[in-house]
Amino acid sequence: MPQGYDAMAASWRQDPEGYWRGAAQGIDWSVPPRRIFDAAQDLYGRWFPDARLNLCHNAVDRHVAAGRGAQPALIWDSPVTGSQRLIRYDELQDMTARLAGALAARGVAAGDRVVIYMPMVPEAVVAMLACARLGAVHSVVFGGFAAAELAARIADAAPKAVIAASCGIEPGRVVKYKPLLDAALDLSPHKPATCLILQRDSWRCELRAGRDEDLLEAMRSAGPHPCVEVAATDPLYILYTSGTTGKPKGVLRDTGGYAVALHHSMELLYGLKPGDVSWTASDVGWVVGHSYIVYGPLLAGCTSLVYEGKPVGTPDAGAFWRVCAEHGVTVLFTAPTALRAIKKEDPEGRHLRQHDLSKLEALFLAGERCDPDTVTWAQRLLDRPVIDHWWQTETGWCITGNFRGAGLFPPRPGSGGKPAPGYDVRPLDEAGRPVAPGRSGTLAIRLPLPPGCAPTLFRAEARFREAYLDAFPGWYNTGDAGLIDGDGYVWVMSRTDDIINVAGHRLSTGQMEEVLASHRDVAECAVVGVRDALKGQAPLGLVVLKSGADRDEAELEAELVALVRERIGPVAAFKAARVVPRLPKTRSGKILRATLRKLADGEQPAVPPTIDDPLILDEIGTVLGVR
Ligand code: COA
Ligand code: AMP
Repeated sequence: MPQGYDAMAASWRQDPEGYWRGAAQGIDWSVPPRRIFDAAQDLYGRWFPDARLNLCHNAVDRHVAAGRGAQPALIWDSPVTGSQRLIRYDELQDMTARLAGALAARGVAAGDRVVIYMPMVPEAVVAMLACARLGAVHSVVFGGFAAAELAARIADAAPKAVIAASCGIEPGRVVKYKPLLDAALDLSPHKPATCLILQRDSWRCELRAGRDEDLLEAMRSAGPHPCVEVAATDPLYILYTSGTTGKPKGVLRDTGGYAVALHHSMELLYGLKPGDVSWTASDVGWVVGHSYIVYGPLLAGCTSLVYEGKPVGTPDAGAFWRVCAEHGVTVLFTAPTALRAIKKEDPEGRHLRQHDLSKLEALFLAGERCDPDTVTWAQRLLDRPVIDHWWQTETGWCITGNFRGAGLFPPRPGSGGKPAPGYDVRPLDEAGRPVAPGRSGTLAIRLPLPPGCAPTLFRAEARFREAYLDAFPGWYNTGDAGLIDGDGYVWVMSRTDDIINVAGHRLSTGQMEEVLASHRDVAECAVVGVRDALKGQAPLGLVVLKSGADRDEAELEAELVALVRERIGPVAAFKAARVVPRLPKTRSGKILRATLRKLADGEQPAVPPTIDDPLILDEIGTVLGVR
């Protein structure tokens, strides 16, 4: 690997295909790639178009074959259940092969979809790998979504089987997953034939005869299934993420490009070697979990830590440091929100000092913009590199970062670092022209996207084109805005669309507006993301009542909060709704959401010249208590 960021970036720029040909050597192919990239295929070309492989073989079996079966593959640490478990690579191989066997016996084959709805338990990782072993396409749904959201994903993905757990555990409450699954399956027009259910001790559920079976029992009675070779361009998974409308986007991931990019990133970005302990404190329901709880660490032969707990309250703000010390974590990756939660409870780092963190080499942050204060705080306490890196569900790995494998450059708190190899990132103006250093624009990536990035959306190619490619021909529109400074550091500052980021979770305000608008007393509404000291942003709903709706406002606001929780789920963290007399609009009727957001943040927004009624801002300001 070339040493130094500039040399590494130059080696990619001089010969992009040669760069990825080199990276592809880290993967065991059943048919190695002869062609690296075919620019003519699909929306912007396809990587490794003639190669074949199996991802589970690369993540599990090859390490066993190389004599490393006794090495821990997964460490499960669950403070919410008081449990821990260590799973060696040979055990993971056996579990994965058996679950693949159980799925195959129930008719699941390469290309079929399987929805996985599970909390942070090792069986969730096994379920994903078992699908990869068969060439089946998994779609993991985060546990904090409501039944209607799960139903929408089941309807779109049309899975042959669902793998779920009876329950998840949030501090202070058991989240009963199985009734949510039952409700989702009642709602969904598509009905999978089989549901395999992990019965957890915290709450055991009823199984519906003819459809539901006990997961562990099915694994026990199944024969092991070998790895099924697939094309590098075959899909590995669909991961639904928020778009600007109520309908989530099914981000599709290929197999070969993803394998190459993740394997390469483990060394290049995170600086991890086989046997190191990698802990990504996220959830398998998010892209960060797919890439760096499951596939990345296992492809690299690391031990991946699976944590079922929170940064605070399980039991205290020392939880992360306890886990790092107890399991010898080499690199920790989390969301800035988690750090802010720890900082709030333990600003002086008293908990941290009680633990031996000598094995911890670096802390990585992503999922939302990290405020410089939090980066600086973490750097001071840990006295180790704290690295912010920017990425999206669509890209699958980082767009910008700081690269331990090539030698770190000095980080600048508030910046997500510099572009990873494969990404030519530029801020563009409205006409699609790159802007000068230091000036803001829409952050775009020159096509083609590198290996690992989504080739399209599941059964929605036109939507991919419209959402990402149409605005700036020849470029991928990230939907983020920011700038690149004179030294090449990228600063991601905000979104250009109606997506908000709450506690590192990407949410659509448009989707929340659809829910609020469905309430019988609501005439119109707007949802904006307001600044939140802990979660970065928090959604705020502003509603105008239908004429004649004579409602107690506090009661109505509580109904709206409950409605969003019921339809989207607790993950939306929708806790605030206010009745307002009118919404500010342009003379052509467009709601001025950016003005509303600034107003709610307590700023004095400039009154847009196109506003239809300037006085409304004062009235709303009074309702919100900011004027
Ligand atoms: N299943 C069911 N419910 C879940 C859930 C899950 N897997 N994950 C979260 N929820 C619920 C929470 O219990 C909470 O419910 P409540 O409104 O009844 O309290 C709600 O969803 C919102 O959760 P969250 O936004 O995470 O807030 P929180 O107050 O529970 O916790 C933090 C705050 C900072 C501790 C937490 O947000 C955190 O750890 N954030 C890190 C985020 C992260 O890892 N993001 C991944 C992207 S890299
Ligand atoms: P998700 O697809 O859920 O991973 O969310 C991706 C979005 O989160 C990005 O488009 C950004 O808006 C935001 N994001 C993720 N990481 C960062 C980061 N390091 N800095 C700034 N924004 C980030």
